[in-house]
Amino acid sequence: MTIEVSASLLAADYANLAKDVALAVEAGADSFHFDVMDGHYVPNIALSPQHLIALRPYTSLPFSLHLELGNPDQVLDTFGKLDADIISFQLDRSPDPKTTIERILKRGTKVSMCVNVDVPLEQTLPFINMLDEVLMLGVNPGFGGQPMYPQMGERIQQMSRMIEKEKPGIPIAVDGGVSLKTAPMLVAAGAERLISGSAFFGAPDKAEFVRQMKALG
Ligand code: DX5
Ligand code: ZN
Repeated sequence: MTIEVSASLLAADYANLAKDVALAVEAGADSFHFDVMDGHYVPNIALSPQHLIALRPYTSLPFSLHLELGNPDQVLDTFGKLDADIISFQLDRSPDPKTTIERILKRGTKVSMCVNVDVPLEQTLPFINMLDEVLMLGVNPGFGGQPMYPQMGERIQQMSRMIEKEKPGIPIAVDGGVSLKTAPMLVAAGAERLISGSAFFGAPDKAEFVRQMKALG
C-alpha cells in the first residue's frame, strides 16, 4: 500500500504560507490540505478558499479543501473556480449528501465525505459508491493539535470493510491527531492518506517525518 502524506496548512505559519508550502514540497509531501472554517460550525475561523487560489501557483501538488462550515452547498456556489483537486464536506452538515456530492463532482473536482468521530459509520453506507475518498476525522473538528480519538483503529477497520463491499479501491484519509506515534496503527487499520498539521509542521526534520510515514506502507 502506498502511503500519501498531506500537509494540513492549518498548522502552517500564516505569515509565510508560500514559504511553508515550499518547505513541505521539499520534504516530500504528496499534497496540501486546506481547512475552511467559518466560526459557526466550529468555534474557529481558518483558511479561506481564497488561500487555496492564492497558493495554487506555488506548487503543482494536489490540494484538498475541507469544508468545516455551516452549509457546504452555499460555499460551493459562492466560490467559482477553485482549482481544488478534491473537496471534502462534513456528512453531518450536508442537508442532502447526494446533492452535495453531485454538486462537487459537477465542478470537475473529486469528492470526499468527512465523518466525525461520533458519527455511526452505517450513515455513510448510501453514499460510499459515489465517493473518491472517505475522510475520517480523528478529532472533533475545529482545532489542530488535539489528541486522537482512541477508537480510530476499530473505526478505520470497519470503514475498510464497508468500502471493500461498496466501492473497492477508494482510499481512507485520516485527519486530526495524525503523528508518527499514531500513524502505524492508522496504516495497519487500512488508512492510506495521512493528513498532518501540527505534527508535520512541528517536526524538526520534515523530510524524515515524511520518510517514516511512507515507510509504513
Ligand atoms: C481539524 C482539521 C485538521 C487539522 C489537523 O478540524 O480538519 O485538518 O489541521 O490538525 P492536527 O494534525 O494538528 O491534528
Ligand atoms: Zn481538515
